[in-house]
Amino acid sequence: PAKTPSRARVLRGRLLCPDPRQAKIERIADGLLTIGEDGRIASIAPAPNDCALPQSYPGAVILPGFVDTHVHFPQTRVIGSASGPLLRWLERTVFPEELRFHSVRYAAAVAWEFCEALIRHGTTCAAIYGSSHEAATDVLFQELSRSGLRALVGMTLMDRGAPPGLLVGVEEAIAACERLIARWHGHDGRLGFCVTPRFALSCSPELLRAAGRLAEAHGLHVQTHLSENTDELLHTATAFPAARDYLEVYESHGLSGPRSLFAHCIHLSDGEWDRLAAAGGAVAHCPDSNFFLGSGCMRLRAATGRGIRVGLGTDVGAGRSFSLRQVIAGAYDASLIAGAPATAEELLWLATRGGACALGMAAELGCLQPGHAADLAVIDAPEIAAAEGLFDALAFRRDAAPARAVFVRGALLRGAVAAGPEVV
Ligand code: GUN
Ligand code: FE
Repeated sequence: PAKTPSRARVLRGRLLCPDPRQAKIERIADGLLTIGEDGRIASIAPAPNDCALPQSYPGAVILPGFVDTHVHFPQTRVIGSASGPLLRWLERTVFPEELRFHSVRYAAAVAWEFCEALIRHGTTCAAIYGSSHEAATDVLFQELSRSGLRALVGMTLMDRGAPPGLLVGVEEAIAACERLIARWHGHDGRLGFCVTPRFALSCSPELLRAAGRLAEAHGLHVQTHLSENTDELLHTATAFPAARDYLEVYESHGLSGPRSLFAHCIHLSDGEWDRLAAAGGAVAHCPDSNFFLGSGCMRLRAATGRGIRVGLGTDVGAGRSFSLRQVIAGAYDASLIAGAPATAEELLWLATRGGACALGMAAELGCLQPGHAADLAVIDAPEIAAAEGLFDALAFRRDAAPARAVFVRGALLRGAVAAGPEVV
């Protein structure tokens, strides 16, 4: 039998170490990072003066891999389609493309491109909206399994408000989710199933309730969209007249709790923010998407000021890039508009440690501490002595190159060089 390659190695270089709890990052200008056979970080320390090991990646920094807390697999090929605002964009651009995932062959080709794009940009873990088709979602799981990435994935649930080819009835949808859970949840300790009702407008009350029960029964995470666009809010109020606001639609169907991840959260009232905080839910902040669809500006401080966990999301394909560094730059612009500027250090923290916490993986991911998984991104960085200048360069330079290397549990993931399946 083929022997699996050892994961044990020592990396020497500039290390960026997010604090486990607060949005701070410690730098080690010349450090040694030891990774054990189990793919966990064994030790981290400054390199001794007489260290004989050469720099592992000259001209780069080593930090925890980026965590994309919100991304749509079946929108990989429609990035940059400016047919917004949200509801028109869904109808004209997104639903027609998502219908193509009826073909497993098409889904397989895109799944390869999708994983490749995550890796290229230094993302090691993502919360992913799969296809509304069970087979295409299964194909995505297979490709993620092969790629070595870490992910939470859901079949995107809809039973109304989209073309018939994307709708699945409640019983059939839950049965499909059960099969995907049995096959993939916990796979290789890297992949998990996430209950994914698309948003209130594409789900009947029965589907929302069934999704809530499914999550409860298996202890699963839930991801959905919340309060993204003002027209969406109006339609949601009409579709769910008993709910006093948008968040209550999810609360009243058992979908708001400590394992819930809400994307966008732009137009929430203070009362909704308070309830979201009390429930222990997390937020996927997607500023690039919010700008591109003209959805608005999330108030980052409304979340962090209440102790709500926040991660960053590309929201591809409303987001224009798979790069969390592009999202960081957008989050900065959004914070300026909101009147409470964030720092590069805080935003880099959100893109790594913040995302890990938002996905409930705080015990394992997002820090370079002994015992944590060696999920790492190695990215080019100018030699800047001052911490602030270095963080600014990493966060805000828009011409960032692809990651030099990406590791999950100490294993080097393939680069953009591997041959993919034929493009169809
Ligand atoms: N709301 C419901 N579906 C979607 C989607 O695919 N993208 C975004 N940005 N918002 C949504
Ligand atoms: Fe989205």
